[in-house]
Amino acid sequence: MRVRVLGAAAGGGFPQWNCACACCTLARAGDPRASPRTQDAIAASADGERWVLLNASPDVLRQIAASAFLWPRAPRHSPVVALALCNGDVDHVAGLLSLRERQPLTLAATGSVLSGLFERNVLLRTLQRFPGQLTRVPLSLGHATTIAGLSITAHGVAGRPPIHLRGVVAPRPEDNVALEIAAHGRRVLYAPAVASLDGLPSLDAPDVLLFDGTFWSSDELVAQGLAEARAEDMGHLPVQSSLGALAAARARRKVYVHVNNTNPILVAGSRERLAVEAAGCAVAFDGMELDA
Ligand code: MLT
Ligand code: MN
Ligand code: ZN
Repeated sequence: MRVRVLGAAAGGGFPQWNCACACCTLARAGDPRASPRTQDAIAASADGERWVLLNASPDVLRQIAASAFLWPRAPRHSPVVALALCNGDVDHVAGLLSLRERQPLTLAATGSVLSGLFERNVLLRTLQRFPGQLTRVPLSLGHATTIAGLSITAHGVAGRPPIHLRGVVAPRPEDNVALEIAAHGRRVLYAPAVASLDGLPSLDAPDVLLFDGTFWSSDELVAQGLAEARAEDMGHLPVQSSLGALAAARARRKVYVHVNNTNPILVAGSRERLAVEAAGCAVAFDGMELDA
């Protein structure tokens, strides 16, 4: 199975347009220790021809432009045949609007994510301009669905509903999922938003584990005076609290993804990055190859 990280940063990207935290300042200065990253998405393929995007990043057009394997091979063609979503957060769905050029696509997500998108957002009608443009595939928790030769299973994990739906719809277990992708006997577990280790599928199963690396510490935003919320309140277990479990997991490759621009693990050589590496884990970067 072919797997590429298209975007390794959390919402806002790295550097974030309105942020001058220590990490963003380094990245903006072109410091080689702090490479810019686009917003969270992965690409996976069973055959190297048809690709499924895991999450529709607001940066999807830049990500496709940077990835020759996703370029069209005919006057009207795309190797991107489907998308699968982990949740309805803007950083995971806004890219859908950029994929509207009359290209038939399949969109797999849980029922609550699909209804949050299509029942409450007139803009998504842009993907339904003609019959057959968008095929919606509801993912039931724990049940595998095969798309383009990839078996895709959504596992409900602790998280928060999208900020724009809070107070509008009641939270549901299927609001936030980890995606397990399997082909040719290989498995990848992609879990970019995890509020707690409870309920997670076994971390030993996958060949590649891509895990929530949003924040290093619970009070990262509070300590930097950037927000009032703690990491867990935002639906993200800090790396400090997941690193032990990842170190113990038997996955062949263990990679932190969806890394917020404030997280010092973005800076090569930082104390926090060295701790991640000492635990046998890596910090994702755009273009990272994770073939399994
Ligand atoms: C998150 O990862 O917590 C969300 O992407 C935040 C947001 O929607 O701004
Ligand atoms: Mn996010
Ligand atoms: Zn920043």
